[in-house]
Amino acid sequence: MNTSIKEHWNEIYGALDPDELTWYEEIPAPSIKLLSRCNINKDEPILDVGAGASTFIDYLVDQGFKNIIATDISEIALNKLKERLGKEKASVVRWIADDITQPIHIQNLRDIAVWHDRAVLHFLLEEHQQQMYLSTLKKVIKKGGYVIIAAFSLKGAKKCSGLDVKNYDQNMLAKFLGEDFNLLEYFDYTYYMPSGKPRPYVYALFQKK
Ligand SMILES: C[S@@+](CC[C@H](N)C(=O)[O-])C[C@H]1O[C@@H](n2cnc3c(N)ncnc32)[C@H](O)[C@@H]1O
Repeated sequence: MNTSIKEHWNEIYGALDPDELTWYEEIPAPSIKLLSRCNINKDEPILDVGAGASTFIDYLVDQGFKNIIATDISEIALNKLKERLGKEKASVVRWIADDITQPIHIQNLRDIAVWHDRAVLHFLLEEHQQQMYLSTLKKVIKKGGYVIIAAFSLKGAKKCSGLDVKNYDQNMLAKFLGEDFNLLEYFDYTYYMPSGKPRPYVYALFQKK
């Protein structure tokens, strides 16, 4: 695990409440929209990579999904999410503190039906980090499984939380995933931070052949 990155995120999650974060969504509408396009059963595994304290997990629990896996490099983020959910709802979720660029536990997952990543891939600037993300994704996702990725778009911010990011469009994401994946749908989406400032994202949905 990259301890300086872990400390960076732990510090942010330790200092702010989830609804003060510059990426907080009361309702994760674009993720919900793309999830609704996925033809999956409620008991199939959904992996949220870099879930942080995301309300997407609350949504999945409330919708009755039974095999939810929330992972993040920051255990403080995951603990805040657990706290918000409360004991009963949190017990539905499998919690994994892991670094997606040096994964230990995520590597052992299999047959993931949906890989969901909002605002994580764009922090991976080094080729070896991106390649580890990709090889892990390919290892754990099932044939016919879905990948939802949301990243800062080419018109988007160049930095977030003091870190540089790599901006994407749907073609770059498609090229990154490679020919084993079909791009099913994509859209640009402007997220507004709690401060009211806009943050342009690209959202894309892929399916593994
Ligand atoms: C901008 S936040 C987005 C959180 C969440 N996906 C959401 O939409 O609310 C980025 C998240 O990625 C996590 N993260 C950053 N680098 C990571 C890594 N190498 N492995 C796993 N998680 C990472 C951070 O801890 C943080 O929770």
